[in-house]
Amino acid sequence: MEKGVVFVVLVVLLASPWPASSQNQQNTFTVNPAAARNKAASSGAAGSFSEFITENVQHYVLSERKYASKAKALDAELSAAEGGAGGDEGRFKTVGDAVRAVPEKNKKRVILDIRPGTYKEKVLIPYTKPFITFVGNPKSPPTITWDDTAATRGKDGAPVGTVGSATVAVEADYFMASGVVFKKGGQAVALRVFGSKAALYNCTIDGGQDTLYDHKGLHYFKNCVIKGSVDFIFGFGRSLYEDCTVVSVTSQVAVLTAQQRSKSIADAIDTGFSFLRCRITGIGQIYLGRAWGDSSRVVYSYTTMGKEVVPVGWDGWNIQKPEHSGIYYGEYKCSGPGALSSKRIGWSLVLSDVQAKPFTGTHFVYGDSWILPPPKTT
Ligand SMILES: *[C@@H]1O[C@H](CO)[C@@H](O)[C@H](O)[C@H]1NC(C)=O
Repeated sequence: MEKGVVFVVLVVLLASPWPASSQNQQNTFTVNPAAARNKAASSGAAGSFSEFITENVQHYVLSERKYASKAKALDAELSAAEGGAGGDEGRFKTVGDAVRAVPEKNKKRVILDIRPGTYKEKVLIPYTKPFITFVGNPKSPPTITWDDTAATRGKDGAPVGTVGSATVAVEADYFMASGVVFKKGGQAVALRVFGSKAALYNCTIDGGQDTLYDHKGLHYFKNCVIKGSVDFIFGFGRSLYEDCTVVSVTSQVAVLTAQQRSKSIADAIDTGFSFLRCRITGIGQIYLGRAWGDSSRVVYSYTTMGKEVVPVGWDGWNIQKPEHSGIYYGEYKCSGPGALSSKRIGWSLVLSDVQAKPFTGTHFVYGDSWILPPPKTT
């Protein structure tokens, strides 16, 4: 990759197949990268986890209300955001600069056309900036990478922790990405998704331990590659992984998921990870999941499992009496040498058609109201 040729083009909604009403609305904001540059970059900072939760609770209560209706029609806000044509453009040297140039309380889809190259930076999309899309060319995808670990010290001198270690953190709703590589250095998070209604297509999330913090909200991953080792997809998102490849990169023990559905975390009880038509491969010994939360929920259906998947399949971790705690681990019509063995742990499930149904489609994440086709690459 050549150095110094990377740049980001910020395009505000050049074209879109939505909405029902197709008046040509003019976007009313102007991008002002010069002003944005003076603002302190917030992406390096990370407070304590409880501070962080408090800040976001209000926001989450609102998002919960929004998707509680499980409407069939596209969300009104989303529909409005996709409307109109034309808009501002800007050029930026970093992804962070482009994100900072997006106005607070943004109401329109903003597409960041990210050119091939390696972007060494830490990026935060704050919850005040919904409707941001990252687009790269899947044939020559841009890589966003950073070297933090959970032990890296933040501005306040304290370790940033797992939450603060993310290369890219998405706290806003309605995030989309296509053809982008999210990467990290040490024991850190490559991508953390805390906003709801996030859709990622043809992306690679590349790391070791704790790669993808599927933290919270409704998420959809399609045609993605996720590489990791211990607990590499973790959190209490309610997420569908469709046609994804999940790769263990450790020659020792890998744990594919540490889903955190729990009775003691507000709203977490409705969450879970569903893997649909995925492929599990790599090296070492792979566990399908271990219970981070007392009611951890993970389902694999129509998934091809390599021989690396251990016969016992699942692990209760620190949960006492996992057979009674509310853990829900299931498999449905999977194949390959690692699929359903007679040695599976006793409290995991072979799902019936009826039991599998809620998990085997985008309805699992109420997708009809918010999942859009992948953004077009330039
Ligand atoms: C995304 O990945 C799928 C499956 O690998 C592929 O068929 C499709 O062409 C890819 N999309 C783009 C835009 O490259």
